[in-house]
Amino acid sequence: MPPRKIIIDTDPGQDDAVAILLALASPAEIEVLGLTAVAGNVPLELTARNARMVCELAGRPDLAVHAGCDRPLLQPLRTAEHVHGRTGLDGPDLPDPTMPLAAPHAVDFIVETLRSHPPGSVTLCPLGPLTNIATAFRRAPDIVARVAGIVMMGGAYFEVGNVTPAAEFNIHVDPHAAAIVFGAGVPLTVMPLDVTHKALVTRPRNDAFRALGTPVGSAVARMTDFFERFDKEKYGSPGAPLHDPCVIAYLLRPELFSGRHVNVAVETASPLTLGMTVADWWGVTDRAPNALFMGDLDADGVFALLTERLARL
Ligand code: BDR
Ligand code: CA
Repeated sequence: MPPRKIIIDTDPGQDDAVAILLALASPAEIEVLGLTAVAGNVPLELTARNARMVCELAGRPDLAVHAGCDRPLLQPLRTAEHVHGRTGLDGPDLPDPTMPLAAPHAVDFIVETLRSHPPGSVTLCPLGPLTNIATAFRRAPDIVARVAGIVMMGGAYFEVGNVTPAAEFNIHVDPHAAAIVFGAGVPLTVMPLDVTHKALVTRPRNDAFRALGTPVGSAVARMTDFFERFDKEKYGSPGAPLHDPCVIAYLLRPELFSGRHVNVAVETASPLTLGMTVADWWGVTDRAPNALFMGDLDADGVFALLTERLARL
């Protein structure tokens, strides 16, 4: 089988960085057509910078990184420096990128890529707020039917929220964009907090990254060390959740995940629950399923895959 063509839409973020590295370490299965940066964990200028630093860390300065939307569709940007640090990629000491940003704007890149590839051959992998994807869908509705699928990190049902009592960060930051994407009719696979909160970087898993003895292994160990500081304190768990790599792990080994095909609607009106992903997990409405919403994963399997792939870089 030829590798699956993907666009990674991202706001690095240490966990975004690990997801990008996992994809770049897996060329037999995944062809990264380009990276599109979006404002999220930190402002766009930094996410576009961090994405290029990660490409260079992976030895892939040839990849195209496109800068996209610098703010959500309708509301001010909310960032997460308290989790990811001032740069968004605090932890390792990575050099400033030397590769330039690619033209055109991320939204134009998404539109052009979907139009220039056969329908059903490009998968979108959003790891941040859905602003770039929703803007592309609004600007060029013809591309929606050409998308093979969207595999994304965002939302929560049983875990409810991480930035408000009711909402997960990626969806809360741009709920209006999320509502467009969830309502677009594209096959959606969602990695919510319900799954990613089980993908914990425990001490032995962190040690395994460091034991790779490579620049990538040590950078990932430092990233996950940094990330851990906040989440361990918050959740009292034995390690921080590694959210975004679940998306790429699913592309590589879908059998490591399980979920339900359900209806998921995004709250855009209530100030109290803005960005909540209302998943009909128990099938109590007649709303048509629009997403494969994951509920569980084999965490040991995911971390074994991740460590084995990172060793290749
Ligand atoms: C999501 O928010 C970001 O902080 C992470 O990169 C991840 O995409 C988790 O809620
Ligand atoms: Ca992210």
